[in-house]
Amino acid sequence: MNIRPRRNRKNSAIRAMVEETQLGPQHLIYPLFLFDGKNVKDEVKSLPGNYRWSLDTLIPEFEKWMELGIRTFDLFPAVDEMLKDQMGSYSYADENFYLHAIRALKERFPEAVLMSDVALDPYSSDGHDGVVVDGKIVNDLTLPILAKMSVAQAQAGIDIIGPSDMMDGRVGVIREALDDTGFTDVSIMSYTAKYASAFYGPFRDALNSAPKSGDKKTYQMNPANKREALIEAQLDIAEGADFIMVKPALCYLDIIHLLKDNFATPITAYNVSGECAMVHAAAKNGWLDYDRAVMEMLLSIRRAGADGILTYFAPDAARMMKR
Ligand code: PBG
Repeated sequence: MNIRPRRNRKNSAIRAMVEETQLGPQHLIYPLFLFDGKNVKDEVKSLPGNYRWSLDTLIPEFEKWMELGIRTFDLFPAVDEMLKDQMGSYSYADENFYLHAIRALKERFPEAVLMSDVALDPYSSDGHDGVVVDGKIVNDLTLPILAKMSVAQAQAGIDIIGPSDMMDGRVGVIREALDDTGFTDVSIMSYTAKYASAFYGPFRDALNSAPKSGDKKTYQMNPANKREALIEAQLDIAEGADFIMVKPALCYLDIIHLLKDNFATPITAYNVSGECAMVHAAAKNGWLDYDRAVMEMLLSIRRAGADGILTYFAPDAARMMKR
């Protein structure tokens, strides 16, 4: 044998030298659930260690996450049922607590990168990402609302707009609305290849945002499809996306890899709530080592080609990286 691959694994220094994939806190984006009110820290049962936070309880924790080196945070609003309507009008209302929270966080942590969610579902009495008329999710009626929501978030100080709705043409409409209002520096991270997945359950528990009827299969992608991700990516990039996202991450590593091979635009992947819940459940039963499973998952998502990873593991992972 003149070739023995094990020679390059023989000690930790050599292993480190030939390590192909890096994973650091700079790659992590931490999703957070915001709740209106005071003194709220309400654990999402299906997502241990993650909470619905009111601003006052969030700020001290936020400081700790920043100290761990996490810089980018994706914010989601948990909205009172009373404030939801067919058109999701609370999403851009002056009194929207989420917009006020963005403003306050940006003021308190100017060096943090804040990302938003743009979609109707947290605000919609139908629990869908677009406007529902006669049981149908109407694309073009939804676009101006998404644009309004995005401009309101930009006015509040958001750094990255995150359209997660999968309506056709939304990136272009949002880009134009941002540019027209002077927010040319606000970025768009588009949920490009977002699949109709079984892994969003805990997230919908957190926001109480599950569809009241039907499913999301007329706008989110079919898990059977791969080439379709190329079409979505082409469109989003042409319409002005600064990042393209694949979601979920683990069942879709091939899609991450495909987009990486075909496009130069930075790629992010959403390690979604159900993926996180599975690890917690198995670890709690003693079936998996939590720390090792988390790091292996995140590393695999990076190895597949993701630049950034949205993950509920962010604080735990950043703590492990420090050790
Ligand atoms: C909806 C949205 C969803 C998630 C992020 N934005 C759920 C859905 O499409 O129903 C899921 C994130 C997760 O499961 O962690 N606009």
